[in-house]
Amino acid sequence: MNPVTTVRVELDARGYDIHVGPGLLPRAGALMRPVLKLPRVIVVADQTVAALHLSTLQASLDAAGIAHEAIEVPAGEGSKDFRTLAWLIDELLALKLERSSTLVALGGGVIGDLAGFAAAVALRGVDFVQIPTSLLAQVDSSVGGKTAINVPRGKNLVGAFHQPRLVLADTDALKTLKRREMLAGYAEVAKYGVIGDAPFFAWLEAHGERVIQGDTQAQVHAVATSCRAKAKVVAADETEQGLRETLNFGHTFGHALEAETGFGDALLHGEAVGYGMVLATRLSVARGLCPAADLARVTRHLARIGLPTRFADLPQTPWSAGRLVQHMAHDKKVRDGKLRFVLTRGIGTAFTAGDVPTDAVTAMLDDAIAGRDAPAYA
Ligand code: GLY
Repeated sequence: MNPVTTVRVELDARGYDIHVGPGLLPRAGALMRPVLKLPRVIVVADQTVAALHLSTLQASLDAAGIAHEAIEVPAGEGSKDFRTLAWLIDELLALKLERSSTLVALGGGVIGDLAGFAAAVALRGVDFVQIPTSLLAQVDSSVGGKTAINVPRGKNLVGAFHQPRLVLADTDALKTLKRREMLAGYAEVAKYGVIGDAPFFAWLEAHGERVIQGDTQAQVHAVATSCRAKAKVVAADETEQGLRETLNFGHTFGHALEAETGFGDALLHGEAVGYGMVLATRLSVARGLCPAADLARVTRHLARIGLPTRFADLPQTPWSAGRLVQHMAHDKKVRDGKLRFVLTRGIGTAFTAGDVPTDAVTAMLDDAIAGRDAPAYA
């Protein structure tokens, strides 16, 4: 059996395929050849990923007759800044980047966002291909064309929508991930179940451990199902005028948690999103929208997988509901000065609400910080 699955992002002339499966990196040159305007690419990779995967990619490009150069960027979120972007664009121009050249982003979310944004603006836009190597990048950031860098006032506040020409999600690359990174990516996988696919959530309850443990078939199913869900949403609402907001489920709370913990290793983005989903579900219960039993399922599943599901699981800071709400007020999802939340009516039915009183959010957070059970106020 060939476990490679292909998902199409339907965006007319800008539509593209996402191939998901093992063994894609050694075939990357042949797979990307049909989408290249010229048989020439410039690979952008972080130093850690380059050490693991660049030579395999280069061999596949040689085999497909594609000329290539590579630029290595220091690993880590710190590279998603104006300084590195300016340096990267200068390197690309020094390598005689042309309008018909293609960039290849090889790595996790940082590289996809940085190289994707460079591709969006260098020479007013060149093509790029995503080869995501982390679970988080395979199921979320490499798909859908959001590219961005961070600025001192916040994460991802400068960027562009720029769709890739192709995404190659090689599940073999997940073998080199640390367990903690796998779990962080898994939060985004579970998100697709909670927001729009109850059967997938039930499948994850039964088989999620296999995804984490490296079972190829389970990984292909989980990544492809996630990409299919995202592709559908992106095709319907590419620039986030409505439906795409539901992909931010757990992110408003998650970003506030990240802001409190310094956007670093203390709490990874995926970990923050995982607990953010618990809080968003809890807020939905508190608003009388969602059965408490669904909150219990979401919490139990994420906890069993090994993600934080209580304030007590998070790095120790004196948590304050007021401070978290303040962070949320600076989130770019604020519209007309009002906080917007993605809530749920139960597993599989997320929607956006712009009418949640701040007091309700604060009360829910106070309860959660104090370790009180959700049904007490449901
Ligand atoms: N990560 C959410 C989105 O791409 O819209």
